[in-house]
Amino acid sequence: MENTLAATAAVRAVLARRMDEPGALLPILHELQDTLGHIPPDAVQEIAGALNLSRAEVHGVITFYHHFRTEPAGRHVVRICRAEACQAMGADELLVHAQQRLGCAAHGTTKDGAFTLEPAFCLGLCASSPAMAIDDEPHARMTPQAFDALIHETQGLQEAKR
Ligand code: FES
Repeated sequence: MENTLAATAAVRAVLARRMDEPGALLPILHELQDTLGHIPPDAVQEIAGALNLSRAEVHGVITFYHHFRTEPAGRHVVRICRAEACQAMGADELLVHAQQRLGCAAHGTTKDGAFTLEPAFCLGLCASSPAMAIDDEPHARMTPQAFDALIHETQGLQEAKR
């Protein structure tokens, strides 16, 4: 309940600040995603009303850009580069492996909420591809075995914090 109230307050604050900007929808969505980690479904009506758009228009923009989430991400975000250099070095196979290992599809979150899996487009490690990142920490020359080790290590750190 508290979280819902905080999210509503955040949505209203962003709208009050930006609703009169030209082309305000994308900046508003980006700011909400940065602030809340996702765009709460309840915000769609409020954004649509403030910008004089239909709910379908706002929803269409949110779903068009994979960058926007409608639910909170998992505790760790795993991003696998799918840009050209990494593709040439096996990024597709790495993504398939990651989906199997985590048990969730790209843009999905594991059932325990531990990991969200996202495709990425160039992490700046093209010369050491294929590349991935966990919580913005980049990792180069990935293999399925190295992926499993990183996930295992991250899970271990998570356990140690409990
Ligand atoms: S293409 Fe993957 S890091 Fe640049």
